[in-house]
Amino acid sequence: MSRLLIKNAKALVGTHAPGVAIARGAEMARMPQVGNGWLLVENGRIAALGGMETLPAIGSDVTVIDATGRYVLPGWCDPHTHTVFAAPREEEFVDKINGLSYQEIAARGGGILNSARKLREMDEEALYKQAHLRLEEMMRQGTVAVEIKSGYGLTVESELKMLRVAKRLKDSMPLQVKTTLLAAHALPPEYKEDRTAYIDLICETLIPQVAAEGLADFVDVFCETNYFTVAEMERVLETGQRHDLRGKVHVNQFTSIGGVQAAVKHGALSVDHLEVMAPEDIDALVGHDTVPTLLPSCSFFLRIPYGPARQLMERGLPVALATDHNPGSTPSGNMNLVLSLACIQLRMLPEEAISAMTLNSAAAMDLSAELGSLTVGKRASLIITREVPSLAYLPYAFGSDHIDTVLIDGTVVRAGTLLA
Ligand code: NIG
Ligand code: FE
Repeated sequence: MSRLLIKNAKALVGTHAPGVAIARGAEMARMPQVGNGWLLVENGRIAALGGMETLPAIGSDVTVIDATGRYVLPGWCDPHTHTVFAAPREEEFVDKINGLSYQEIAARGGGILNSARKLREMDEEALYKQAHLRLEEMMRQGTVAVEIKSGYGLTVESELKMLRVAKRLKDSMPLQVKTTLLAAHALPPEYKEDRTAYIDLICETLIPQVAAEGLADFVDVFCETNYFTVAEMERVLETGQRHDLRGKVHVNQFTSIGGVQAAVKHGALSVDHLEVMAPEDIDALVGHDTVPTLLPSCSFFLRIPYGPARQLMERGLPVALATDHNPGSTPSGNMNLVLSLACIQLRMLPEEAISAMTLNSAAAMDLSAELGSLTVGKRASLIITREVPSLAYLPYAFGSDHIDTVLIDGTVVRAGTLLA
């Protein structure tokens, strides 16, 4: 049996009771903590924890980490990424500096279609190697679970290729990976004259095949003016439901067209982006389980509005945070940056933002029974910080690296000074 003891931690953060699946509204600021704590890992799981005054005799067959002055946090869960892609798009970044908008770049054949052209030409091995490097960097930055979408293939063959790459990453890397079919990301040029035929292809061919091969956990649609309509999204969500694939959808990034209401109606697990929310869009979420998921690093990069985190929390809703890591709108998979942006731009309190990127973001990818809090029985996937004066210092001192050690399932994936 492998055992590891973390002792003298300044605080264990997010010590929720077993069975707490999500934090809603005001609960998000009430982050349970154990000051001056210890935490025992056995066989990759959290076996016990408490305050130092309760530390029992542990025996000698145990690796000990002295975390004096440091916080122990649940690792970051990132429930919305497009981390499998063929190439960066920094030429479009320069176009944006010169004044073009995301929509203008897309209209010129850039954007998602640009990424799709490149991905179609790249083989699985090359895609896998690149994504592997990106995920390794994200793990070093504290990410212990990630959702990965397809959506740069836009043909049956290339969408399957993306999901096979994601599946291979899931099978070969320590972090938890959930996968999502996002064939309805942009209309492929081949279907310009017949949109219905592309939705037919998704519903009649892709979804059944992906479900049969167990290649995806969820289904997604970019429901947006000039991309896919609410009716088209509803067809995809209905078909997904019949194949046991819940929705995790892109809605209200640029315009409010009824996507939130339709996603809630179809029992979507999460609605993501939400930069442009009318009052009735927020109303539609109240009383339902669909998790509003905000992507502040996308707002930062595209210079678009930030999602209404405070309004959502004031209505008693849970908020989750994610990176949206992708080559077009968020070329960063760094959840620490998301933490700072959530506090600075969304005006979330540090505890609220941490709830949103641990317990709630685990819930937004159906992983909160396994991850998202320091709870006995959950996976020992956690962050030990450097010596920092307070929890608020993490988002406050933005851009600095505050992480010392990262464990996934009890295994060290980033060894800092503590294990030297
Ligand atoms: O979540 N909005 C749609 N999809 C991505 C961007 C994809 C791209 O530009 O490549 C997003 O921001
Ligand atoms: Fe996205």
